[in-house]
Amino acid sequence: MSPGKTRTLTGITTSGTPHLGNYVGAIRPAIASAREADAESFFFLADYHSLIKVADPARVQRSTLEIAAAWLACGLDPQQVWFYRQSDIPEIPELTWLLSCVAGKGLLNRAHAYKAAIDRNREAGEDEDAGVTAGLFMYPVLMAADILLFNAQRVPVGRDQVQHIEMARDFGQRFNHLYGEHFTLPEAVVEDSVATLPGLDGRKMSKSYDNTIALFAPRAQLKKLIYSIVTDSSEPGEPKQTEGSALFQLYQAFASAAETESLRRAYADGIAWGEAKQMLFERIDLEVAPLRERYEALIARPQDIEATLRDGAARLRERHATPFLAKLRQAVGLRDLATRTTSVESPADKAAVPAFKQYRESDGRFYFKLVEGERVLVQSTGFDSPREAGQLIANLKREGGEQLRHLEARGLHLGESLVGHLAEGVAVEEVLESLARFAEEA
Ligand code: TRP
Repeated sequence: MSPGKTRTLTGITTSGTPHLGNYVGAIRPAIASAREADAESFFFLADYHSLIKVADPARVQRSTLEIAAAWLACGLDPQQVWFYRQSDIPEIPELTWLLSCVAGKGLLNRAHAYKAAIDRNREAGEDEDAGVTAGLFMYPVLMAADILLFNAQRVPVGRDQVQHIEMARDFGQRFNHLYGEHFTLPEAVVEDSVATLPGLDGRKMSKSYDNTIALFAPRAQLKKLIYSIVTDSSEPGEPKQTEGSALFQLYQAFASAAETESLRRAYADGIAWGEAKQMLFERIDLEVAPLRERYEALIARPQDIEATLRDGAARLRERHATPFLAKLRQAVGLRDLATRTTSVESPADKAAVPAFKQYRESDGRFYFKLVEGERVLVQSTGFDSPREAGQLIANLKREGGEQLRHLEARGLHLGESLVGHLAEGVAVEEVLESLARFAEEA
């Protein structure tokens, strides 16, 4: 891990063949941002996740190979980024269990994918759990382990995955609250500027609609697929609408601004659909042909891809996953019985350091505590957002409690508002002393 760099992590479920939508929406932008100097990027093949959807071993294997080859062919440099396969990192399922033990079942009940399955069953008048596996239910916990194991800060995802990132934050926060600050809480990054690509029928290109164009379809097949894109019935010579034209949107995803402008004019001038399709085909092939050539060379040598993936996982485990998990095992108490205290956090130095612990309660609100080691000094009231709680903590650290007022009983106020309570047996002086240490450090 490199300090000071922003850690970005993305997983790709290995359940299909890479298509143009994956390329434009994920592969191309991810590789571009991995090349930025301050980025530390993690790309992995989420093959454990694929087992939730696919019970076809040959397809899982083939898809893993194709997706790995596609990313490499598109310019991913496995020496510059962490590139690995989920199932080569046994610390991921191990962390999944630790997180399962802090993950609220109620939260998992509300996960979109699981809820949709339940709702479908209910509508069909079936038992609501019919055909629902524990794997589907646990999907967000496995995904949280993927992210938290590497303390990723940014996770670029589609809108449908945002809820999963929020759950990862929730599990991480609960774990931190119980066992100390181990996890960075990740942020979902939804790139609105990256267009979702339309498929052959004009709906979003997706394997669930069966309207995809394989990224590395051979030239002849690519042409055939592009010629099958649905268009309206306007005749050659009739002006055409760019609005809502899948063909136009596809072109735009590959062309420069100037090229897009000239197609816009050609539409207005009544270009024939056949001619427009030819332009689209040539434009896509221009970008894809060199990648396709590399892809074919890569896929012909699966042993090399296998070695690349294993090497990435081995280095990443050694550098991070294995020592980090050892620390987490210590933290939860899976310990060598002969050791009385741990090298990670002796109670003595824990007691010395004041800290704020943020967490969320089952009432859905956000709280914090001011602690010194095991001892709680202040318990906050509930806040509507983690940001509100965070701002208050920042203020207390900055001002060292200067504006904190102790009015009645154990209540603590900032200005007019009640922000928390002194814990039992704690004097307000102790709190001010503790806060002063933050202000000193700043
Ligand atoms: N669930 C993601 C998807 O279907 C794939 C995935 C698995 C993932 N683990 C992840 C994405 C961790 C980001 C981070 O798209």
